[in-house]
Amino acid sequence: MIKYSDIKNKLKINPLKDHNNQAALITHLLHSDDTSYNGFLLSQLSELEIGQFQEIDFDIPFPPIKKPLFKFIDLFAGIGGFRIAMQNLKGKCVFSSEIDRYARKSYELNFAEVPFGDITKIDEKKIPDHDILCAGFPCQAFSIAGKRKGFNETRGTLFFDIARILSEKRPKAFLLENVKGLRNHDRGKNHRSYSGCFKKRP
Ligand SMILES: C[S@@+](CC[C@H](N)C(=O)[O-])C[C@H]1O[C@@H](n2cnc3c(N)ncnc32)[C@H](O)[C@@H]1O
Repeated sequence: MIKYSDIKNKLKINPLKDHNNQAALITHLLHSDDTSYNGFLLSQLSELEIGQFQEIDFDIPFPPIKKPLFKFIDLFAGIGGFRIAMQNLKGKCVFSSEIDRYARKSYELNFAEVPFGDITKIDEKKIPDHDILCAGFPCQAFSIAGKRKGFNETRGTLFFDIARILSEKRPKAFLLENVKGLRNHDRGKNHRSYSGCFKKRP
């Protein structure tokens, strides 16, 4: 068995300097049971003389669970509140995304996974299949504590990135977390357009 901390040191995984998502890709692969990825990972590891692809001892606070009952993805992952809850329910995270580098650093320390960056730049087709999509998307555009610009500011349009991923991946369920102002913002008009943007199944 090889320790995650040793792999991290040898591969020089640094969430604060991961502009091209290389650390995100490698750490996602370390968690992946998709054998089609293993060739890529093997070449990375063997270059560093880690040798063969062995079972990994995830020496971090919240290691992945052994026999998962379902798969989920963690969008706007922050430092991983959703992930802890879903792992406690025996879920396996197959993809995470978070734009803030310090949140990514905390996330990696918690889960041995560097989230991918800006969700607006991620091709939904490349996201692995999953049963549940989780997203605690930014609330500032809708919160009564803010200016409530809604869709007129970038943070308010991130919902449509969730919608495009849902439309492509069709998980069994999704869990979105936001403030109550999301429902009544612009007299409920936004909430209705949110609901309408999911294409019906053929
Ligand atoms: C309300 S917080 C989510 C907190 C999270 N549920 C947790 O447990 O820590 C929203 C998060 O979305 C992230 N975010 C904002 N814009 C983003 C983007 N374009 N791509 C990915 N993450 C983004 C923020 O950095 C912030 O951490």
